[in-house]
Amino acid sequence: MAVAFDSARWEALAAARTRGDVGDGIASVLALLGRTDVISFAGGFPAAETFPRERTATLLQEFAADGELAAFQYAPTRGLAGPRDAFADRLERLQGRRPAEDELLITSGGIEALELLGKSFLDPGDVVVVEAPTYLGAVQSFRSFEAAVAPVAFDEHGLDVDDLQRRLAAGVRPKLLYTIPDHQNPAGVSLTTDRRASLVELARSYGFLVIEDAAYRELGFEGESPPSLWSIGPDVVLQAGTTSKTLFPGVRLGWAAGPKEVVDRLVAAKQLTDQCAGALGQRLFEESERRGWIDDQLQRSRALYRRKCERMLTALERSMPESAHWTTPRGGFFSWLTLAGVDTVELAGLAVEEGVAAVPGTLFFPDGRGADNLRLSFSLVDEEKIDEGIARLGSLL
Ligand SMILES: Cc1ncc(COP(=O)(O)O)c(C=O)c1O
Repeated sequence: MAVAFDSARWEALAAARTRGDVGDGIASVLALLGRTDVISFAGGFPAAETFPRERTATLLQEFAADGELAAFQYAPTRGLAGPRDAFADRLERLQGRRPAEDELLITSGGIEALELLGKSFLDPGDVVVVEAPTYLGAVQSFRSFEAAVAPVAFDEHGLDVDDLQRRLAAGVRPKLLYTIPDHQNPAGVSLTTDRRASLVELARSYGFLVIEDAAYRELGFEGESPPSLWSIGPDVVLQAGTTSKTLFPGVRLGWAAGPKEVVDRLVAAKQLTDQCAGALGQRLFEESERRGWIDDQLQRSRALYRRKCERMLTALERSMPESAHWTTPRGGFFSWLTLAGVDTVELAGLAVEEGVAAVPGTLFFPDGRGADNLRLSFSLVDEEKIDEGIARLGSLL
């Protein structure tokens, strides 16, 4: 008799580690992107206005006309020499530290660095400390390796290093600590300089690796960012960066910069995923960086995001009840609302019916908190629809 391939059969065939509670949070946020009838404050996506369409077309034409080979061919696992040099130059210029040859890997986006770290460092039950709330994709990724994700406190100055220290003193022994120090997803706040130094010291004392997710680092609305964790502690920090928000996410591209011993392991793991980041994206990045186009694009993107952010904050002032409060971002894509006594999962459901999307806070906590928080992203939404979207949310409250 034939076996019935029902859901129980597939469940039995699936690897035990996939039965962990990874959830489909990212997929459900991505699904909203296709909805043109919704004013979306949901996804952390870059604005289409920032995409360098013409310049990308110029480069593709040049590649074709010049008989370029590298852009179309497989690349070395660590990345092509020219693009590696361009990444190293950029890190040196913006962060004051140049990774050595064996301290840098070109990745297929920021999320891949997390996957490679999980593959290389996590056995079932290993502890990964995260600030809470944090990036949903990171929690999903660590959980996919059956890690125990342990939250530490987080406030308007970023990860609460004192709380971390207490936990370490009490016996918590993480292998990895994941943090987003700049314009954090979802809270839109940044880690203070003092806390950065203390965090690096704790990593050295207790022997864990800090993963610095630098996804929004270059998207400050003004001025300099505090020193990156990697530049303070290159011996204990792996920086995972991405070009998704500075160039465009259609080529999946990013970097991992950290201790040689860590990067070597990521390179070994990458051979077994996609072998190399797409060469075409690497070459587009290299040429854009060399010609100053990325900085130029960034300047305009920052001004656009700042305008959108200010408009959203003004709309919140106008439309939210007295009891509501929210963070004031100085860069990045997000503001984090606290709506005491409101069930934001229910609110988000009702909001979609009213043609507005936002993400309930529970998706950003590994432990079920966040029921009265809402993440609002101002990056993608049309400027002129911000007022209307926030007004609709406000009327639901
Ligand atoms: C904090 C953070 N890290 C990483 C990523 C993923 O970046 P990438 O597109 O490079 O995979 C995102 C995307 O939203 C993010 O918010």
